[in-house]
Amino acid sequence: AFASHLIIDDEGLIDLRYNGKGGGVSSRPLLWKGYEGMRKLLLTNIGMLATPQGRTAKKGPEQGAIQMLKNAWVLVEDGVIAQVGTGAAPEVEDAKVVDAEGNLVTPGLVDAHTHLIFGGWRQNELGMKLHGKTYLEIQNAGGGIQSTTNATRRATAEELTNKAAKALDEMMGFGVTTCEAKSGYGLATEHELKALQVIKDLNDRHPMDIVATFMGAHLVPAEYKQNREEYIRLVCEEMMPAVKEQGIAKFCDVFCEADTFTVEESRQVLEAGLKYGLRPKIHADEIEAIGGSQLAGEIGAISAEHLIVCPPEGIASMAKGGVIACLLPATSFNLGAVFAPARDMIRAGVPVAMATDFNPGSCPCLNLQFVINLGCLKYKLTPEEVLTAVTLNGAAAIDMADKVGSVEVGKQGDLVIWDAPDLDYICYRVGSNLAKTVIKRGELV
Ligand code: NIG
Ligand code: FE
Repeated sequence: AFASHLIIDDEGLIDLRYNGKGGGVSSRPLLWKGYEGMRKLLLTNIGMLATPQGRTAKKGPEQGAIQMLKNAWVLVEDGVIAQVGTGAAPEVEDAKVVDAEGNLVTPGLVDAHTHLIFGGWRQNELGMKLHGKTYLEIQNAGGGIQSTTNATRRATAEELTNKAAKALDEMMGFGVTTCEAKSGYGLATEHELKALQVIKDLNDRHPMDIVATFMGAHLVPAEYKQNREEYIRLVCEEMMPAVKEQGIAKFCDVFCEADTFTVEESRQVLEAGLKYGLRPKIHADEIEAIGGSQLAGEIGAISAEHLIVCPPEGIASMAKGGVIACLLPATSFNLGAVFAPARDMIRAGVPVAMATDFNPGSCPCLNLQFVINLGCLKYKLTPEEVLTAVTLNGAAAIDMADKVGSVEVGKQGDLVIWDAPDLDYICYRVGSNLAKTVIKRGELV
């Protein structure tokens, strides 16, 4: 379905126009990233422009110190922000003018943690959960990641592409313009590479900027259960060299968790990743605090994810190691777990990002606006801290903060016009999609 909607018009502009029928695929016109030409977009009549500033993650009191401009305008030229001002907007020749009608405008959101590529779903686990089975009990019984691995191995690259493209459309509709995507449901060289190729292909063809993470160490697959060292060897000595050679991932992630990968195994995987140019990320303290956040600090991971039950030593280690905490409150919500100690992290000077963790098991949720709600209501972050968490700090967690995550001259023209008068409003309203117009590289998507 993806390729059949490619249209090349006489200006050489390639338009991926979905037909929108039967499955909720977006009918938004999506523009080819490689399109070059003088394109100008003037966004006028912005009631409030709320944005963090800078090209690095914000921590401590800086996380909430964002810029709020009233009565603002933004000019985007060739996909890049050229000017930002307040008061009457200038006359700009040949610019497409978009009237924000006095609404809130923010940077495009960044979803810095997703497991985008997978076959099937796991609605069958809902009943088990309702009968009191825990996440790890379901995993140990052959459900969980292993069951999604079986479905992902069966799926063709084309099937995975079409499925993920639909999810990307939905994410964009919620205001997300950049995301991360992990492999980790192949758990065999062929299928891990297949997933990463799908991500690369989507990044080339979909307007979303997608940053890839290799997560071959998501689970020891069934066929290696009796021989875990051999699986780890496969990840480090066969998969990683191939990933490096194909240049299809930027980060390496590992599920450091009880019954999954120990701290020592996680260290081994992340150190091997470093040898192949993959910067470390780590799923840490999601269910049990076995030492993942301490390891994150020691190894200098770019980010540690989840941290639901992160102990004070873990927070201290992350602060020392300059690690970004990528918190995933919709997963706490879905697991019926407690919520990560986000305020303690901000107090300790750890930059906090927030993301969805979209995956078929612990968090079948694509909506970063729901994460925004939980950030305020459950983490007790202020709307300003929350905005930084889902824009600039998310961008920094995937090494994209020099390009996206704030509305500033020189950054990409990724913006959201909200059906909202101010920032508090989008944090307070629950369950509606308030993203009114999404702009990617200066194009309405
Ligand atoms: O971030 N924890 C590991 N990975 C995902 C869940 C994967 C799954 O359940 O399929 C997570 O929660
Ligand atoms: Fe995850």
